[in-house]
Amino acid sequence: MIEIILLFSSVLFIFALKLFGRPSTAHRANTFAILAMGLAVFSAFNFDFSKYDSVFYITIFVSGLLGVVISKRVQMTQMPELVGLFNGFGGGASGAIAYVELSKSTLPLSDYFVAIFSMAIGMFTFSGSVVAVLKLRGKLNANYSTIATIFTAFLPPLLLLPGIWDSLFLERWGISILTLEYFILLSLIGGIVRVAVIGGADMPVVIAFLNSLSGIAAMSAGFIVNSIILIIAGALVGASGIILTLLMCSAMNRTILQVLKGGFGSTKVNNEYEKDPISTSPEDVAIQLSYAESVVIVPGYGMAVAQAQAAVKELTNTLKDKDIDVKFAIHPVAGRMPGHMNVLLAEVDIDYDDMYTLEEINREFSSIDVVIVLGANDVVNPLARTDETSPIYGMPILDVDLAKQVIIVKRSMSPGYAGIANPLFINDNSKMLFADAKEGLEKIVKSFELV
Ligand code: TAP
Repeated sequence: MIEIILLFSSVLFIFALKLFGRPSTAHRANTFAILAMGLAVFSAFNFDFSKYDSVFYITIFVSGLLGVVISKRVQMTQMPELVGLFNGFGGGASGAIAYVELSKSTLPLSDYFVAIFSMAIGMFTFSGSVVAVLKLRGKLNANYSTIATIFTAFLPPLLLLPGIWDSLFLERWGISILTLEYFILLSLIGGIVRVAVIGGADMPVVIAFLNSLSGIAAMSAGFIVNSIILIIAGALVGASGIILTLLMCSAMNRTILQVLKGGFGSTKVNNEYEKDPISTSPEDVAIQLSYAESVVIVPGYGMAVAQAQAAVKELTNTLKDKDIDVKFAIHPVAGRMPGHMNVLLAEVDIDYDDMYTLEEINREFSSIDVVIVLGANDVVNPLARTDETSPIYGMPILDVDLAKQVIIVKRSMSPGYAGIANPLFINDNSKMLFADAKEGLEKIVKSFELV
């Protein structure tokens, strides 16, 4: 019976992953995933709770409650941090399972190396995720590359030490508890050092990568404790995490090794503009929009920071009421996490059919009357097409500069995540509306009353 339930749970997990592929079915996907996880957890106890004491129930209750409270309170922009924390705890839990099994010293030889692997990867994921969360919160900003270089150079002899120690002092075949704890320490330091050298803005990619590692750690822990569901769920997390990591990297035209090496955005580039931009006012934008037949809105990180999605909806309604065609251009890495823009727009009931991918919308820009770039910067930077020396050269971008008119709503001329100037801002067909995304849009909508 338990095996049939586990099979059902695995099918639900796979089905949920499929449904996550479309924003319109993602909500149902979550329901399936919750059901699958519930079945998996209760199966682990054989649905027999009589043999557990009160500590067990208190732990389940308190951790479940914490999960609900934290997830309910977290802001959309903090979602990568929450995912990072969950990955870290998942990795730590797998590492702990492996440690317990290894310390029993009854483990068959075939499971030994899998267990050490699971323990090391799990602990690495745990400490790496904690550092990633701190970096996302802006609590760790220094450059730690020298410490990382020293640690990497000393790693091989540090790994050999316990072998020598155990062969001298251990009377049986196997591994001592001291050596296991030493490996845990080394893995924890490894996670801290490796993630600390990577820039804060690359943390979403790092978190997706650590997510994959946490899955691999869980899968290998599943082999040790003979848990089919842990193997299947771990493999799904491991595979989907690495696919997501690679997709993010390719959308930024960087390899995973370049991201993990760190240092992106630290090279000094000339951020001077040759001329002043043309600035505009909300009233002028409203007049310009009222003459347009087609408008494309390009949301970016600034829309998320300003929480401007409700104002976007208001402007969209105003434009649609005037029979103006409104579309949304979504860059795959706009914002700070995959699907960031889709989620925010879906929150205010923007129609999924109005959201266009980069490939779809790039074919249309030359015929669009007005493009509103809302707190986006790197994803619309034409240097990615034209300047081979630019750090973002080759990154696929939204070709908004080809549209008839471009309005850029942001607070200043300061660069985006890549730290480079954007010549789009001084193009002849561009105008800057210097404002917070939410306030700027609200003022445009208000100005329509006067048009
Ligand atoms: P960015 O290039 O980071 O630019 C965001 C712009 O928003 C800034 O220039 C900022 O200018 C503006 N802004 C900030 N707060 C604002 C506010 N309250 N109102 C209006 N504007 C505001 O954003 P993007 O175009 O979305 O590109 C995303 C970047 O993140 C890419 O370089 C991408 O490679 C990187 N990245 C993304 C991901 C994922 S998965 N999404 C993962 C890793 C890295 P002001 O300060 O002048 O207002």
